[in-house]
Formats: sequence, structure tokens, C-alpha cells
Amino acid sequence: MTKCVQICQHRSCRKKGAAEVLAAFKSLPIADVTVTASGCLGQCGNGPIVLVLPDMVWYCRVLPLEVHLVVEKHLLGGQIVKQMLYHRFHPQG
Ligand code: FES
Repeated sequence: MTKCVQICQHRSCRKKGAAEVLAAFKSLPIADVTVTASGCLGQCGNGPIVLVLPDMVWYCRVLPLEVHLVVEKHLLGGQIVKQMLYHRFHPQG
């Protein structure tokens, strides 16, 4: 199924480097995966926030250097990157 990666580009996520995170995803394109800049995802202060749909998997404080993990493990390998999960929505992490 087609996946969509949303990367918040609103104020507080941008301050933490969300533009670089978006650029890192764009530099690693994958068939059937759409990468989109999103508006505020309502989780400011934990950014950059990355949401993978339709999986409803949230990653927080994502660094550009970590993007390849999401691409290789999650998007290509089908495995969640546990150490990057956003605890608020994935309390069992
Ligand atoms: S600014 Fe990114 S979640 Fe609100």
C-alpha cells in the first residue's frame, strides 16, 4: 500500500531542523512512498515530528542523520524504529 511520510514544517519543528529532515527524506526517494511537508501536527516541542501514514507511527525529535533508519527499516523493511518512537502515542515503544 502507498505510504505517506508527513514532516511537520511549522514553527517549532523548523527551529529544531525540520527543513533538513524533509530534505533528507527527499534525497532518499522510494517507490510508493510520498514525502510531504505538513502543517503543525499538534506536538510542538517534540519536533521535528514525522508521521508515517497509514501506519499511524509517530517519530519525534528526528535528526537528519536518523532519516535513513526510517527509510531502510520502516519504509523498506516494514519494521518500526523503536528508539525513535514518540512516547506519547507509543507508550509501550
Ligand atoms: S510545530 Fe511541529 S508539531 Fe507543531
